[in-house]
Amino acid sequence: MLRSFFIFLSKVSWMQRVITRWKFAWRAASRFVAGNTVQEAVVRVKELNEKGFNVTLDHLGESTSTTEEAVRATEQILELLDAINRAEIRANVSVKLTQIGLSLDRSLCESNLERILLLARQYNNFVRIDMEDSPFTEQTLDIYRAMRQKGFTNTGVVIQAYLYRSATNVKALLEEGARIRLVKGAYKEPASLAFPRKADVDANYDALAKVLIEHGDTAAPPPAGADGRFPPAPAIATHDPARITFAKTALHQLDLPKSTLEFQMLYGIRRDLQDQCVQEGYPVRIYVPYGTHWYAYFMRRLAERPANVWFFVSNYFRK
Ligand code: FDA
Repeated sequence: MLRSFFIFLSKVSWMQRVITRWKFAWRAASRFVAGNTVQEAVVRVKELNEKGFNVTLDHLGESTSTTEEAVRATEQILELLDAINRAEIRANVSVKLTQIGLSLDRSLCESNLERILLLARQYNNFVRIDMEDSPFTEQTLDIYRAMRQKGFTNTGVVIQAYLYRSATNVKALLEEGARIRLVKGAYKEPASLAFPRKADVDANYDALAKVLIEHGDTAAPPPAGADGRFPPAPAIATHDPARITFAKTALHQLDLPKSTLEFQMLYGIRRDLQDQCVQEGYPVRIYVPYGTHWYAYFMRRLAERPANVWFFVSNYFRK
């Protein structure tokens, strides 16, 4: 109920205008967002790198409504790639296709993505295409494949365990040598498309993780170099200790090295678990969002965990 409400709010633009004016809202959001500028984000990345984490940076934004906005967002992602290269940090980039024009014009989105992939390739860097809600699933996979056909091997996709279709998608993508980030799924989807029960999502997550771990190392070549930019083929992105334990056990049973996969977690969430995985010697990548368009991202984080709503409210009462 609360989950649906906050996911609904994440798409209400007048609410965005109201909430982003509140100072206490930014105070609460900054637990999950690394700053407003690329410079602030780079400082956070350096700290994370020093602690042994690799990073994926997300210049926040989604659902742009004009061509100019989509082109501007693309240029900001290009600037981010420049900044990563200049700072020599262990970071790659995550991109949402609606941020660079998918809901406006598919060919605009493709040409923007191509510009991003070209520059990333020049810097030997990797771009993960985030997965958004179900109206965009098919198009996102199509665009990923179009980019692979154009020769861009420096990109990967995200698969959401809550969707019934995901097992079929994973099988095909592995055959194509895809690098896949597995998540539970952050949007509101109908029961006709997604498992309504959390227990079923968790079971599907484990089943897909197992397939990824079994076939991941043969699907895509292992990451090159120590610059922390190219991820291994399977990325197990969750803060759920039971899912993480399942993946570790699967690795162990298959007698595969820890570097076969990487765990991925969001900035500001379950830092204890992030530290524990790094200390145990697993590769861990932190998803670090930054920028002024933090509203929708923050609403989804509130949706995931009711306790975050009290955290948000308590910020109002803090001086
Ligand atoms: P679950 O929701 O069961 O949470 C497990 C535990 O984690 C909770 O008990 C709590 O301790 C902690 N936790 C989880 N969320 C929290 C929060 N917001 N605040 C505080 N604690 C929290 N989704 C998507 O649809 N498309 C995408 O491209 C991505 N990309 C992505 C990248 C990375 C690196 C991660 C980690 C996640 C995503 N997601 C995503 C989001 C994902 O779909 C999912 O909504 C969240 O990861 C929360 O689910 P968990 O797997 O953590 O499990």
